[in-house]
Amino acid sequence: MTHVLLEKKEHIAVATINRPKALNALNSEVLSDLNELVDIVTADQDIYALVITGSGEKAFVAGADIGEMSTLTKEGGEAFGKHGNDVFRRIETLPIPTIAAVNGFALGGGCELAMACDIILAAGPNAEGKGGAKFGQPEVGLGITPGFGGTQRLARLVSPGMAKQLIYTAKNIKADEALRIGLVNAVYPLEELMPAAEKLAQTIAKNAPIAVRACKKAINDGLQTDMDQAIVIEEKLFGSCFETADQKEGMGAFLEKRKHEPYQNK
Ligand code: CAA
Repeated sequence: MTHVLLEKKEHIAVATINRPKALNALNSEVLSDLNELVDIVTADQDIYALVITGSGEKAFVAGADIGEMSTLTKEGGEAFGKHGNDVFRRIETLPIPTIAAVNGFALGGGCELAMACDIILAAGPNAEGKGGAKFGQPEVGLGITPGFGGTQRLARLVSPGMAKQLIYTAKNIKADEALRIGLVNAVYPLEELMPAAEKLAQTIAKNAPIAVRACKKAINDGLQTDMDQAIVIEEKLFGSCFETADQKEGMGAFLEKRKHEPYQNK
């Protein structure tokens, strides 16, 4: 991977999008790197949670690459959108939990990448009121629609009316407003953002990994369907946990009034 740095810390992985000259904008190469990241993380059974962030203090991801998009034809635009959408859908459906640590601009494709993650944490402005995360879908200001799932995920994450306002106006919002509308889970000073994201990932990674993955699948798959079918999805996944060694250890430890052994992902 040329533009994505990957670091493993115990059972968590931290991926940093690293194309600082273009504020980490997503060109085809970065999208292909993100696809490779999904391959690597999926193949490594030892990774229980993934944090995604952007390099530098200014940007998480400043959007899809405008230079690359500027000369696209209708067919080329559709293909570029499909490339991004396919990668982001793979990120969204990674079996393990994902956390976006949004350190700066998350515009267009950047906001869309954050929304493909399970949890979004954001940096607030510094003491002078400068910097920090800024979210937005500025596409209509460039003559296009959001192209990597923004119309769909934003409308599902916040209210449809709020999503429409953000998308139609192309205006950016700061971390505190993103928190207020439910787009982000928490806001930290920039220097505390990565420690907080890693601590959250480590906290998740200490729980039984198969059960955590089953929860993610139950929530994601259940949200795609009606309540009757969603409950059945949960029942099946709930049942499957009783075949795991971690369930036996977790419940055994409770009944024997002892701390459970570290979970084995089995
Ligand atoms: N694509 C390509 N290059 C980008 C970029 C992008 N999305 N965003 C920033 N850059 C580049 C700039 O061109 C500039 O490069 P040069 O130094 O070679 O000129 C460099 O990054 C630094 O950017 P600025 O000088 O503009 O930095 P700034 O601090 O003045 O402004 C900013 C920061 C407000 C984020 C501004 O860069 C900006 O508005 N960027 C574009 C944001 C945007 O519109 N994103 C949406 C893209 S469309 C999309 O994402 C479609 C989709 O859904 C798939």
